[in-house]
Amino acid sequence: MINDKVKEVLNEQINKEFYSAYLYLAMSAYFDDIGLCGFANWTKVQAREEVDHGMIIFDYLIDRDCKVTLKQIDYPENDFSSPLQVFERILEHEKYVTSSIDCIAYMSQEECDMATRNFINWYLTEQVEEEKNASDVITKLKLFGDEKASLFLIDKELLDREYKKHTFS
Ligand code: FEO
Repeated sequence: MINDKVKEVLNEQINKEFYSAYLYLAMSAYFDDIGLCGFANWTKVQAREEVDHGMIIFDYLIDRDCKVTLKQIDYPENDFSSPLQVFERILEHEKYVTSSIDCIAYMSQEECDMATRNFINWYLTEQVEEEKNASDVITKLKLFGDEKASLFLIDKELLDREYKKHTFS
């Protein structure tokens, strides 16, 4: 059985993951609007992964015989100014999610909930990758600037990202 404190933060994390999906979808719509199909694809794939992240916690709570309490999802910002600004926002958001996951890891350890402590390791590893992915694109955008030809090449590269369902293992 999971204690109430850990259950609460896991329920909150479901909300944060679904909010993340919403945020990435807003970004995808922005990129689509300005004609950057690869950037639009990359952020849309990320949105689907965020839904998986939320569902993995949802299923974990059900498996542990815990009540799932879904909360209201805030609307995301919808105004963006450039690909670089969006990816800097992504990195900032992912750092926030990492700190939230760190808190769950710390709390489950403190509450001697070793099953949750083990479960959350998957998310700790995932966050390292998420921050790196955003940083890699920021590096390229800073390196090449807003030059149209290089933006076209980065866009082409981001078009290759394919969705693969994320599962807990
Ligand atoms: Fe599920 Fe991007 O954190």
